[in-house]
Amino acid sequence: MAKIFIADHPLIQHKLSILRDVKTGTKEFRALIQEITMLLCYEATRDLPLEDKIVETPMGMCNAKVISGKKLAFVPILRAGTGMLEGVLELVPSAKVGHIGLYRDHETLKPVTYYCKLPADISEREVFVIDPMLATGGSAIDAIDKVKEFKPKSIKFMGIIAAPEGIEALKTAHPDVDIFVSALDEKLNEVGYIVPGLGDAGDRIFGTK
Ligand code: PRP
Ligand code: URA
Repeated sequence: MAKIFIADHPLIQHKLSILRDVKTGTKEFRALIQEITMLLCYEATRDLPLEDKIVETPMGMCNAKVISGKKLAFVPILRAGTGMLEGVLELVPSAKVGHIGLYRDHETLKPVTYYCKLPADISEREVFVIDPMLATGGSAIDAIDKVKEFKPKSIKFMGIIAAPEGIEALKTAHPDVDIFVSALDEKLNEVGYIVPGLGDAGDRIFGTK
């Protein structure tokens, strides 16, 4: 059964409040997405498997720990997911990165896939699909369907804000995928936007509106 993690850390909550604010401009918005993502990534990577490694310190030998295996891949959903990429790569610089291009058809609200390029060794990696908004859940579900075709070791989803409808849909479609978000909001409005949310994440990250 999927684990649902809603961050209650004061630093995340404080930064999220500034992020939501309609008066926050593009530059600060981008920086905040990156900072919140880093804090969330800390939680989402908490149960990564470790293995022993002998390290020589200036004082002698030490039985140390390192993350085992081929490690991680981050897969942002284009385009707003790329806004979270710098945050995760700051913490895990050696991770590989795949991209999945999806957008929501504004009439049907259904995701349309237009791009998919994943690391060649993704089957040996723990994958984190990243996208700031989990609204109806359609984009995340389709992106994860696609990633699953390549049989990675595990998949987790990381986002900034979720609607109850999105959490429900994602955990029903992919009960094996843990979900990490910094807020669970009230509802979706009639055009599929999260309320109170933060508006259109892509437009706010890239300044396109
Ligand atoms: C937004 C967001 C998610 C999707 C969430 O992207 O970044 O990908 O909507 O909605 P859903 O859960 O209902 O599928 P959008 O489709 O607006 O594309 P963009 O990133 O190119 O702006
Ligand atoms: N996509 C966004 O960017 N914002 C929402 O509130 C819902 C989907």
